[in-house]
Amino acid sequence: DPVVDLAAPTMGFMSWERFRCTIDCNDDPTHCISEQLYQSMADALVLHGYAAAGYTQVSIDDCWTDHQRFQGRLQADPTRFPHGIAALADYLHAAGLTLGIYGDAGIQTCGHYPGSQGYEDIDARTFAEWGVDYIKLDGCHIDDDATTTSSHEQGNKYRQRYVAFGAAMAKVSHIRNMTFSCSWPAYIGDNETDKPFDVMYHQAGCNTWRNFKDIDNHWESLSEIILHWADYWHELQNIPTGSFNDADMLIVGDDHYGTMLPRPQAQLQMGFWAMIASPLLIGGDVRTIPEEYRKILVNQHIIAVNQDVSRKQAYCVVGCKGTTNTDDDAFEELRTTSALKQVWSKTLQGGHSQALGFFNLQEDDDATIQYIYQLEGVVAQCVDLWSDDPNKDLCAQGKGATTQQWDIHLLTKDDNHYSLQIQALEMEPTSHRM
Ligand code: DGJ
Repeated sequence: DPVVDLAAPTMGFMSWERFRCTIDCNDDPTHCISEQLYQSMADALVLHGYAAAGYTQVSIDDCWTDHQRFQGRLQADPTRFPHGIAALADYLHAAGLTLGIYGDAGIQTCGHYPGSQGYEDIDARTFAEWGVDYIKLDGCHIDDDATTTSSHEQGNKYRQRYVAFGAAMAKVSHIRNMTFSCSWPAYIGDNETDKPFDVMYHQAGCNTWRNFKDIDNHWESLSEIILHWADYWHELQNIPTGSFNDADMLIVGDDHYGTMLPRPQAQLQMGFWAMIASPLLIGGDVRTIPEEYRKILVNQHIIAVNQDVSRKQAYCVVGCKGTTNTDDDAFEELRTTSALKQVWSKTLQGGHSQALGFFNLQEDDDATIQYIYQLEGVVAQCVDLWSDDPNKDLCAQGKGATTQQWDIHLLTKDDNHYSLQIQALEMEPTSHRM
């Protein structure tokens, strides 16, 4: 393989969600895309305990370059990055952090800065020489001038560009191993059924990829992403081990547009991203995230589910397309009324324990509750990973746990398999062996 496998989903900060393409540093010096922004994020990750919890990457997104290349090379905007990217990489590495950078597989980035199409070799080399650790390669403006007609050709042009960039990264891997984050799947439609994940991983060397739409700082956007996973959980679970779907940035504690997601919804995103092994990329302003949201982001039990050695995303047990208790009509009905209750299940630590995620996707803020339970050990223990007392056994003596919305009964446990009866309010009980 051209690129080294990831041990776990990437964790860190990424600038797009909160800071977008803010380039006027006179007008907004503390929020503009500049070396100061990324340095202050690095400082905040360390100061507020995010780095210790695992959030060790600082990722630049769009709008960091000058509009012109210099001698064929990308160069950072000289007024916003007076010391250049290599110096920023040094700063981060000295703090025990890593640097993510942004490029585009086409002729321009989405923000109309220079793209890497035709410059793959020189750009991959430049990033490696600067000390970059992770490249997000976006997919705007690929072959803008070419007249591609069929959807087959459309698909091929993404393949060509991402395989070319992956090959360029392989050529400089002796200089630096860099994680390759490919936006490719997000650009070839919403249907995950035919997406060439094997090609992405084996031929382009993508370690991780964006599957679906950009997240925005509100519940509609978040729930749409979750529903996409409910539609395609099967396909999304069957990607090569060592590659990770990226459901996009975390909006937990994000104050973009001046409002913050209510805490139950923020907690729901964190829990869901943990279950599906998505990268945990903080999209808010790390310098100012309030303590109650910081706590959600640094919860070590939830992070452990995300980073688990299984490197697999959970599978859906209840409330997704094609799950046993939900026929297609019932699913569509629930989907359109936003009344879905889902249960996801993830095998942890080589089969010794299971995480169970319960998600109520209702628009009513208070109703948007989720639980993550972990079933563990020879004597099945069932603990609530969000609880302040995560050692409390909720399913003691096989009695089960009943919450406001869910009723879970541990029926039996043998040969490391659990049989559970799971019942969501207003739904038929389901037996589930795992
Ligand atoms: C589209 C990507 O999906 C976003 O995450 C962000 O990188 C923007 N492009 C930047 O223009």
